Amino acid sequence: MAIRTAIFGHRGYPAQFPENSLAGFDYALAHHIDGLEFDVQLTKDRVPVIMHDEKLNRTTDGKGFIKDYTLAELRQFHLDRGEVIPTLAELLALVGDQDVQLNLEFKTNKVRYPGIEKIVLDMLDTVTLARPVIFSSFYLPSLKACQLLAPDEACCWLTGKPVVNAKAFVTNEHLEGLHLKHYQADIPVTERIWTVDEPAEAYELFQQQVAGIFTDDFMTMTRLRDRMLL
Ligand code: G3P
Ligand code: MG
Repeated sequence: MAIRTAIFGHRGYPAQFPENSLAGFDYALAHHIDGLEFDVQLTKDRVPVIMHDEKLNRTTDGKGFIKDYTLAELRQFHLDRGEVIPTLAELLALVGDQDVQLNLEFKTNKVRYPGIEKIVLDMLDTVTLARPVIFSSFYLPSLKACQLLAPDEACCWLTGKPVVNAKAFVTNEHLEGLHLKHYQADIPVTERIWTVDEPAEAYELFQQQVAGIFTDDFMTMTRLRDRMLL
């Protein structure tokens, strides 16, 4: 039987809404998205917020690093359409107990944010989600820190390069799988692929029965996949 590839909104629904915005997450949830991927960093006062870039410059009307602003200071800046940078707590409240798979990326590969893993895990302990979160990071020590605090959590390493001896790597690092930029054939591990916006590539990946894809346009990809499943 064909595996149904899970479709994750990469930073929410950036094809139609500001990336990593509550408006995009809300729309995606209302349209029954399979999964949401989002990037987490810390403010100066150590509040987890959702933003891809370490700096405000590209996606807001502000400048400088997230780490240099308190949450209250960050709130003066805006994404497109007047959206503000969401906190992780706000996203978790929006999700509630809806049946959606969350993929929380620790955005620690450039700014490290020491202790971010514990702050995030402590916050997750305060809510009841429908499914356990999948954690990912390009920075393997973040996943190690997460595993030390919560050994049973699903952790996936993000990489843009081919992984040699993938099965042994995943086993040795106690990972759930790999989140890859390029599909790797014949590696018996859970693979999710980012960022897939071309229907032809998605079609191939659905045929390969990968566990998941991350896409900027979940509506298009979901329609494509569901047509294939008919
Ligand atoms: O998690 C998949 C993807 O989000 C990784 O790359 O740079 O978009 O966070 P990036
Ligand atoms: Mg990401």
